Amino acid sequence: MNDDIAEILITEEQLQRRVRELAAEISAAYAGKEPLLVAVLKGGVVFMADLMRHLTIHHAIDFMATSSYGAATESSGVVRILKDLEEPIEGLDVLVVEDIIDSGNTLDYLRRLLLARNPASLRIVALLSKPSRRRVDVPIDWIGFEIPDRFVVGYGLDFAERYRNLPFIAVLKPEAYARSVA
Ligand code: IMP
Ligand code: MG
Repeated sequence: MNDDIAEILITEEQLQRRVRELAAEISAAYAGKEPLLVAVLKGGVVFMADLMRHLTIHHAIDFMATSSYGAATESSGVVRILKDLEEPIEGLDVLVVEDIIDSGNTLDYLRRLLLARNPASLRIVALLSKPSRRRVDVPIDWIGFEIPDRFVVGYGLDFAERYRNLPFIAVLKPEAYARSVA
């Protein structure tokens, strides 16, 4: 698996330091409140698992799963809900935890869907953002790192369901991308 890696863009140490910083900011922003963290499956799981362990406020967690039609590394703008939240969110302070904002399509759809359920507030934290790829302008409250337009894996992010377990963010060798789809 490690032979497939061309370059590490964000090291484990950089990720852990930034996650602790984000957790401190989020804990301060929700002082006196008890937010519901909603991780977007599957990519957001690793980030949320680390983030929540550094939060100093009470909070609950839940999960949603979305899928966008289209090619493996491109989002088409059509989003489907594969798994919805367990409970209504009316009156709750909701924080959506995303792995990466690329075109913004997924998050834009999710944001409208959740806002229609009348939460007390809705904020978004994304570990990664590719600003040069944005097609829909979605307000993001916290961003871990801005990265260039490259397809990355690790720390929850996959290529063909692989590499989610890498503790860093990396770019694969071209032959690794080719092999997985073959
Ligand atoms: P968007 O709807 O175009 O913003 O796409 C968001 C989703 O596409 C993310 O939640 C990821 O699941 C996936 N995605 C976008 N860029 C990457 C990448 O570089 N590596 C892995 N998954 C990605
Ligand atoms: Mg995702």
